[in-house]
Amino acid sequence: MSKLTILGQNRLSGTVAASGAKNAALPILAATILMEGEITLTNVPHLMDVLTMIRMLKALGLRAEYHHPNSVKIWNQKKVRHIAPYELVTAMRASFFVAGPILAKTGLAKVPLPGGCTIGTRPIDIHLKGFKQLGAQCHIEHGFVELQAKKLVGTRIHLDFPSVGATENIMMAGCLAEGETLIENCAQEPEITDLGDFLNLSGAQISGHGTATIHIKGVTSLKGVTHSVVPDRIEAGTLMIAGAITGGDVTVTHVNAEHLSPVIDKMREAGIEVEILSLDTVRVNNCKGYSAVNFDTLPFPGFPTDMQAQMMALLILAKGTSVIKETIFENRFMHATELMRMGANIHLDSQFAFINGVDKISGAEVKITDLRAGAALILAGLAAEGSTTVYGLKHLRRGYDNLPEKLRSLGAHIVEYPD
Ligand code: UD1
Repeated sequence: MSKLTILGQNRLSGTVAASGAKNAALPILAATILMEGEITLTNVPHLMDVLTMIRMLKALGLRAEYHHPNSVKIWNQKKVRHIAPYELVTAMRASFFVAGPILAKTGLAKVPLPGGCTIGTRPIDIHLKGFKQLGAQCHIEHGFVELQAKKLVGTRIHLDFPSVGATENIMMAGCLAEGETLIENCAQEPEITDLGDFLNLSGAQISGHGTATIHIKGVTSLKGVTHSVVPDRIEAGTLMIAGAITGGDVTVTHVNAEHLSPVIDKMREAGIEVEILSLDTVRVNNCKGYSAVNFDTLPFPGFPTDMQAQMMALLILAKGTSVIKETIFENRFMHATELMRMGANIHLDSQFAFINGVDKISGAEVKITDLRAGAALILAGLAAEGSTTVYGLKHLRRGYDNLPEKLRSLGAHIVEYPD
């Protein structure tokens, strides 16, 4: 199994750049199915999920190439195929983002059910309800979702929960629907704003994206454009915590400080010095240590579930007891048991994690169970006494653009071993 070792207790310092957001790049890549012509995306992170989505576009008949360091060129000139391959949808849940665009473009979509994942069951009922309200017929048979509509017609759609993926999928489908679509109780994550901006650039007429109500006036076609993906607030937050947990002095550039507010506010509440040097640069300087804090994970602008594991890693060394309530996913504390192997004092009770701060943790062999759990274990390893071996890097590579290398550039002692 792929692994890395970390020699801990090295104070990190220096400047590092955040990459583009995985969670913006994935729906934006899916949205290119709706367009005609040539599309250029810049600031696209180089990571497995992005490469999987590029394979998906190719399987659907688009031409797509990743150009190092961080751009993707796409040509959508032929008829789009309507069947999404099983192995790509089951490899990555976000592949289901192609359902809305394929349906809107071809009138027919056959997409495998994405299935569960380690952090929860993650159903797609809200996506399907939205497609049906736009006029699609929906059947689930032989493990596939089959969607069909001679034409999609705009309507008012109220989401049962502000699901990020459902908001994006329905918004993409609504762009080519006839008439006006109003989506209420939308997710408001910055990645949705970026997707809406990208679609508008290509000719869509969307307003209110980034708020709870999105209004779309349907158009008949979308053209190819050039767009730069927003910075990854989760990667930036992870790098900031790397600075804080090692008592270091780390500056992260290429961020959007506004998108980081929920994380910055919580770190400051813990007593960590976070300076916003400019809208795109933040500095974490933690010479004094920090205290326990409590938080619930919530849809944006609440504290992001994707930062819960990394924040837990930080809080195992805080003064006092912290309480985390995970409200978004039902099984997202798997990193806790691995952190306990390193000496963390954590008690889990259904949605709650009680973290009693300890003075030190020690290196151990630990296993990554999911993407953000992987980041949490590496962060703990940076602060632990001695050597930590982290197994299962494939999860980390799905969603981070070379995190070990970025941490090494700040002075971390990390060695990666080939698979
Ligand atoms: C996206 C992010 C993921 C993040 C999550 C929540 C991407 C590629 N992924 O995932 O990193 O952790 O938002 O911020 O952007 N739900 C339903 N029915 C549905 C859809 C969702 O019950 O049809 C539930 C899910 O099971 C979950 C909650 O809603 O409990 C939130 O899920 P959602 O916001 O849809 O997350 P994703 O879009 O899958």
